[in-house]
Amino acid sequence: MRFDILTLFPNMFSSPFQESILGKAIEKELIHIRTINIRDFTLDKHQVVDDTPYGGGQGMVMKVEPIARAIESVKSQNPSAWTVYLTPQGKQLNQELALNLSSRSHLILLCGRYEGVDERVRELFVDEEISIGDYVLTGGELAAMVIIDAVSRLLPGVLGSDQSATDDSFFNSLLEYPQYTRPFDFRGSCVPEVLLSGNHSAISLWRRREALKRTLVRRPDLLAKANLSNEDKKLLEEILKENSIDDCGLRNSD
Ligand code: ADE
Repeated sequence: MRFDILTLFPNMFSSPFQESILGKAIEKELIHIRTINIRDFTLDKHQVVDDTPYGGGQGMVMKVEPIARAIESVKSQNPSAWTVYLTPQGKQLNQELALNLSSRSHLILLCGRYEGVDERVRELFVDEEISIGDYVLTGGELAAMVIIDAVSRLLPGVLGSDQSATDDSFFNSLLEYPQYTRPFDFRGSCVPEVLLSGNHSAISLWRRREALKRTLVRRPDLLAKANLSNEDKKLLEEILKENSIDDCGLRNSD
């Protein structure tokens, strides 16, 4: 999969993709990430990329022409590239949207700065607008990084065989069960005995129950969307009866 990032600050992208899983995915050529400096597509001596807004008001607006030329130069190589503009006004990113984006072979990620882009950029060049949450960043660059990370790890071969995106929280609309590793006893806080039992069906049942409990407490909205079996519904009834969930759901009394 190819990601072309259109930005005024290409240096912001130099280190985040060198490390760990994405670094390896780039090395293995499973993903290709390229930054394109919008300023390189200006034609004037001063390489002006922004201007004051028509109608007055504060701040600067990113000009349409350099962005148009930058997008067109990518599209001339691949007309089917999908153009995403990162903006708090966009559709909010979630796992389903990440999965949807991962089916595309080429994304152009347009990062805005200042008061945003001239409206004609959206009208004429943007296929989809995406927000990474209800807060305002100083620009779309961090949002583009988030999208590349969330999408790349869903691509075949990017995660090792021992890590699977299908176990993720949200993949099955449930939050993940608690995980433990050695030591068994850390300052008096012990690993649940069932995990040491070697009884795989008891472990699976415990994990499913904990996933349900955690989702119920922290994200009841997700439960409504979850694909629950009759067994799950029974477990949920038990959990509700138990009355053992404290305020934050981080611990329970069992
Ligand atoms: N640019 C500024 N804030 C943003 C956000 N929350 N999501 C995507 N792009 C942005």
